[in-house]
Parts: sequence; C-alpha cells; structure tokens
Amino acid sequence: MTATILLLSGPNLDLLGQREPEVYGTAALEDHRRVAEEAATRHGYRLEHRQSNHEGDLVDAVHAAGGYAAGIVVNPGALTHYAWSLHDALAAFDGPVVELHLSNPQRREPWRHRSVVSPVATGVVAGFGGDGYRLAIEALVGLLRPR
Ligand code: DQA
Repeated sequence: MTATILLLSGPNLDLLGQREPEVYGTAALEDHRRVAEEAATRHGYRLEHRQSNHEGDLVDAVHAAGGYAAGIVVNPGALTHYAWSLHDALAAFDGPVVELHLSNPQRREPWRHRSVVSPVATGVVAGFGGDGYRLAIEALVGLLRPR
C-alpha cells in the first residue's frame, strides 16, 4: 500500500494568490498543493491535503492522520503563533512533522517570531516561497527513509 503524507493548511491560506501577493506570491493554494503532490508522487507517496480556517478542524485532522499518515507537512498560518491545541495534537502524532511557511516569519513583525509549532516539529522550512512546498515534502521523505 502507498504511504500517505498529510499536507495541512491553516487559516487564510485559501486566499493565497489574492492575499498580500507581495508577501506570499501570486500562486494559489491549489498550485502549491499540486507541487507538493508531484514531489510526494515522485518519491512514491500519496498526498492528502486539508485546509481549514478553524483551529479545531486542524486538530481533528491531526488526530485522524494518526490512523493513516506516515508524516505531516503543516503550514499553520497565524495559528503558528498561538495555537497550543495544535501544538498538543502534533505532539501526540507519532511521525515526523515539517513546519512550513512561505515567508520567513523571523524577518517580519515581532508577534510572528514565536512559533508554538516549532517545538513539536522535526524541522522548519521557511522563506522560500512556493518552492518551500517541494522542499518540505523532500525533507519529510528524507525523514521517513529507513536508516
Ligand atoms: C505564514 C506566516 C504566518 O505568520 C502567517 O500568519 C500566515 C502565513 C507563511 O506561510 O508565511 O498566514 O504561515
């Protein structure tokens, strides 16, 4: 059976393409999903994508992932900076987690400098724009490779 990677997208990422293009670029979330899916498929994985503007939905998606996903790539949007329930859900997930951001939050407003997700992520990909989706999948695949 083909192993699955969950790509999880948080609030406002459904607006990518129209939302602050000078920060996030002009590609839509569907474009990023396709890039991630191509990278996953290239490495023999299936990609599942969930986007929600609601914290609880993302928590539920992480719980469900425990039953079927080998690893998670998550761009939590603004939830990155305060969603402890997402932190706890990811802490309970038994597999690698890659935190992903289009922008580099460390170069932005001070409130974006803290991530409550980073302490439960295996690693972080940030600041590479849309290319980050390919990089994050490749990083996750590397973590899933038996060693
Ligand atoms: C983001 C960075 C967050 O600070 C912001 O709230 C987002 C997008 C990024 O991909 O750069 O919604 O996660």
